[in-house]
Amino acid sequence: MDKEIFLYDDGVHKCIMFSFDDEEHEDSFLSVNQYLIVNDGVGFLIDPGSEAIFDELYDAISKYVKIENIKYIFFSHQDPDVSGSIAQWAVTTKAKFIISNLWTRFMSHYGFMEMSRVMPLVDNGAKLKFGEDTIRFIPAHFLHSPGNFSLYDEKSKILFSGDIGAAVINSNHGLKKVANFNEHKEYLAGFHKRYMGSNKLCRAWVAKVEKFEINKIAPQHGFVFEDENVEFFLKWLEDLKCGSDFMQELY
Ligand SMILES: [Fe+2]
Ligand SMILES: [Fe+2]
Repeated sequence: MDKEIFLYDDGVHKCIMFSFDDEEHEDSFLSVNQYLIVNDGVGFLIDPGSEAIFDELYDAISKYVKIENIKYIFFSHQDPDVSGSIAQWAVTTKAKFIISNLWTRFMSHYGFMEMSRVMPLVDNGAKLKFGEDTIRFIPAHFLHSPGNFSLYDEKSKILFSGDIGAAVINSNHGLKKVANFNEHKEYLAGFHKRYMGSNKLCRAWVAKVEKFEINKIAPQHGFVFEDENVEFFLKWLEDLKCGSDFMQELY
């Protein structure tokens, strides 16, 4: 695991990024980012990832929050690199699990059966009081999963975007933010072209998130966008042709 990075810290409210790369198995392992929000000692874990990283992530986040104080765990969608460890987190925490209502039944295939602990999200999203502040679940359907949400933390003004903004890139030097958007585009392009639904969906998501003041966009793979790169990325996504825009190539 790379060294954790503080994306926000005002003493009471913290947002921390944890990243896993595997340089020896670059072809078979997709690097992932996990995020933890801690508010006054209470934890909110975002996209905890697969079983393969569970032990290491558990130890890493224990430094910042008591595991029994993790109140919520959010899964942007059903993929194994996001939700594969749900059974482990069910055993080790008392947390509520927040995920699209499209995927609740599927979680039993990861060995998770306690449906009473799930807070299913309806398609047009929700908001949740967390400490003094609000967390919003913003629809991101078909970008790429059919039941998919981004999470906006009003306190830190960070948009946790799941696979949107994901880059297929490993960082050897621990710096996990985009330095030059133009250079970074090549790491975004292939992933978004194939995994994202269509330009129409990209535009719908940008229109939704643009209503909020965004200081950082933190994706589940790759690097964080901040400062002018937030705007550059949103503009790029708005213009992106992807998914069904390339139907002829696929069928
Ligand atoms: Fe995914
Ligand atoms: Fe992913």
